[in-house]
Amino acid sequence: MRTSAAIAATILASSATAAPTPGLLSSIFGLLTNDLNSLLSSLGITLQTNANIHGPTVPFHDQCPFSINTSVSLSTDLFSHDITWPLGVNGGDYINWRTFKSNGANLGGWLEKERTHDPIWWSSVGGDNAPDEWTLCQTLGSQCGPILEARYQSFLNTTTIDQLASVGVNLLRIPTTYAAWVKVPGSQLYSGNQQKWLKAITDYAVLKYNMHIIIGLHSLPGGVNNLDIGDALFHDGWFYNATNLDYSFQAVDGVLNFIKNSGYQNAFTIAPINEASDNLAGFGSAAGLSNNATNWINTYVNGVLNKIAAVDKRIPLQLQDCFKGASYWAPFYDASTNIVFDSHVYYFAAAGTYANYVNPAVCGQAQYIAEETKFPVFIGEYSLQAMYNNTLNVTTRKTLFDTQRYAWSKYVAGGSFWTAVSYSTAAVDGEGTQRDYWSYIDLINQGVITKQTNASYC
Ligand SMILES: *[C@@H]1O[C@H](CO)[C@@H](O)[C@H](O)[C@H]1NC(C)=O
Ligand SMILES: *[C@@H]1O[C@H](CO)[C@@H](O)[C@H](O)[C@H]1NC(C)=O
Ligand SMILES: *[C@@H]1O[C@H](CO)[C@@H](O)[C@H](O)[C@H]1NC(C)=O
Ligand SMILES: *[C@@H]1O[C@H](CO)[C@@H](O)[C@H](O)[C@H]1NC(C)=O
Ligand SMILES: *[C@@H]1O[C@H](CO)[C@@H](O)[C@H](O)[C@H]1NC(C)=O
Ligand SMILES: *[C@@H]1O[C@H](CO)[C@@H](O)[C@H](O)[C@H]1NC(C)=O
Ligand SMILES: *[C@@H]1O[C@H](CO)[C@@H](O)[C@H](O)[C@H]1NC(C)=O
Repeated sequence: MRTSAAIAATILASSATAAPTPGLLSSIFGLLTNDLNSLLSSLGITLQTNANIHGPTVPFHDQCPFSINTSVSLSTDLFSHDITWPLGVNGGDYINWRTFKSNGANLGGWLEKERTHDPIWWSSVGGDNAPDEWTLCQTLGSQCGPILEARYQSFLNTTTIDQLASVGVNLLRIPTTYAAWVKVPGSQLYSGNQQKWLKAITDYAVLKYNMHIIIGLHSLPGGVNNLDIGDALFHDGWFYNATNLDYSFQAVDGVLNFIKNSGYQNAFTIAPINEASDNLAGFGSAAGLSNNATNWINTYVNGVLNKIAAVDKRIPLQLQDCFKGASYWAPFYDASTNIVFDSHVYYFAAAGTYANYVNPAVCGQAQYIAEETKFPVFIGEYSLQAMYNNTLNVTTRKTLFDTQRYAWSKYVAGGSFWTAVSYSTAAVDGEGTQRDYWSYIDLINQGVITKQTNASYC
């Protein structure tokens, strides 16, 4: 997720001359090799070249109602809402994202490690010079596997799921690397027992609490965004590379096999790509993704849709909007396609946001997102950190949480908080550390997140 962008931005800012040129993209037509042609035709798809028909992008952070206007007088009224969260798995029914309301949490930093969210452990295993999981594994050599396996077990467990369930969580969004599903030659990412840990947690969450599960492929072979989470820092070799596309489809096959063998196929949504970007300097905004990269993503997504259809079309595909807004992607897909768009909303990255002025923006933004497209939209990631004046005051943080949880459920398909477990020690502007604004379990323990929504701004 986005804290990684801060790392990348820091690296860029501190060594402008050493900044890499993101991707030497050759002509997409030059890559129309026989390999690619046969791969695409075996899936019944063609290379997409119509990126120019995209819909409008949304400069969320620069325009009304999202601009944070510190001249307005703020209301001190707090509202209560009696929200009945639906079951994430209801018998044998498949989820309908047009009506479903997600009260979700991400299991971030678990099966896809992020230094930001587990820095003490990271350092303790010898990762001080490793900015990403790729380099950590390179550093650890043959110990990478055993060390990661031990951390998969200790980072979170079924008790975590009990705590989430205690405040009404009905959905888990679980990022994985492609290495959990396919062994890619040359990749330093660890392919081990990730599926075993995933199975233990999903069995528990689904069978005990009827939670819905989104399985995310947050990295793809070659790298999808130049960030640690996309493969490794400064890797963007996924785009326009037939070999990496082929391995990506094999990873999707792995996810689909896991779902088919789960015993509760209707409990899942598949998210085949996350926060993709071929322009690091524009990451986090609509400028982060080119039209050519859009074509490549649409080609991939069409292939994934065909693969899902071969299993069961009722399994939804969640398409992360790459900070373009759902409206950008909508023209590429027929209205009947079983897609839910995923937008990420982070006020810590929104220019000029003061913690006490975020709430009115949330209520406006949720209404706007709801009107964007014919497709359902879900807020796959959000947190409590604002850019300035973060405060540990429980009521202030509760209002930030309650307002978002309520607004996402009232206007769109709900959301999922980033992230269930965070040990981040990074400083924030104002009081505390990131952990105080990003760790769902801590926020429950501190009385910020409760089952009741009784401190909402709108
Ligand atoms: C983008 O794709 C077009 C063809 O659609 C090609 O002519 C152009 O060179 C590509 N641009 C880059 C930067 O790869
Ligand atoms: C901010 O709000 C004040 C008071 O409502 C208004 O006069 C001003 O035009 C607003 N500024 C912007 C940039 O929207
Ligand atoms: C989960 O981990 C916590 C913290 O390490 C521990 O207290 C708890 O007993 C564990 N729960 C299970 C079911 O193992
Ligand atoms: C595709 O990616 C693979 C693995 O990253 C790399 O070895 C290969 O050279 C790339 N192919 C092209 C045509 O760039
Ligand atoms: C931010 O916090 C500082 C120190 O508490 C305070 O003086 C300032 O008014 C706050 N800014 C806003 C816009 O609320
Ligand atoms: C926390 O904020 C609330 C609402 O602004 C305020 O009423 C309360 O006094 C604050 N609590 C503390 C301990 O500062
Ligand atoms: C909201 O409910 C919680 C849990 O019941 C309670 O501790 C808290 O004081 C309430 N807050 C407000 C603002 O009513």
